[in-house]
Amino acid sequence: MEFATSAEYERGIKKVIITAEEIQQKIAEVGKYIDSLYDGRPVLLVSILKGSFIFIADLARAVSVPCEIGFMQAKSYYESTQSSGVVKITMDLDRDISGCHVVIAEDIIDTGRTLSDVVKLLRERAPLSLHVVTLLDKPERRIVPFTPDYTLFTIPDLFVIGYGLDYGEYYRNLPYIAEYGE
Ligand code: IMP
Ligand code: MG
Repeated sequence: MEFATSAEYERGIKKVIITAEEIQQKIAEVGKYIDSLYDGRPVLLVSILKGSFIFIADLARAVSVPCEIGFMQAKSYYESTQSSGVVKITMDLDRDISGCHVVIAEDIIDTGRTLSDVVKLLRERAPLSLHVVTLLDKPERRIVPFTPDYTLFTIPDLFVIGYGLDYGEYYRNLPYIAEYGE
C-alpha cells in the first residue's frame, strides 16, 4: 500500500476513539487483574503478532508477577478489511507450555476465528491454565462464539487503527486508537 501524499495518509485517521491515556489507565487495571489471578506464580504472556506487539509491551510492564514473553503469529486478515476466513499459524511459540500459566494477549477480537483456533491449539498442549486478555472486542461481528476472560474496551463495528492495529500494514505506530476512514 502506498500513499501519494501525507494528506492521504492523514485522511485515513478519521476519528480518535480511544486516547493514549485511556489505554494506559485500562492497562494498569488489567495488570492488577493478572497479578491477582496468579498471586506471585510465574506466567507466560503470549503476544499474537503483529497486532498485539505494542499492547504486550505495555501489559508486560503493568504486571508484577514474574513473566516470560512469547510470540505467535496467526493470520486471518490480509491487506484489506475483509476476513479471509482462514486462520494460519505462521509463527509458533519457541517453548513447550505444559507446566506454564499462559495469558494470551490479543489486539482485537472480530469474527472470533483467530482466537478460537489459537486457544484450541494451545489447550491441546496442556498448559496449567490459559486466560485470554484482549485490548478490543467487536462482539457484533462474531461468527465463531468466543468470550475472552478480560476485555479492555468493547467497541462498535468499526475498522480501527493504531496502538498496534493496521490498515494495509500502516498506522500501527499511532499511540491512540482511531477509526479508519477511506
Ligand atoms: P478474527 O479472527 O476475525 O477475530 O480477527 C482478528 C484479527 O483481525 C485481529 O487480530 C486483527 O489482526 C484483525 N482485525 C479485525 N478487526 C480489525 C480492525 O478493526 N482493525 C485492524 N485489524 C482488525
Ligand atoms: Mg491480530
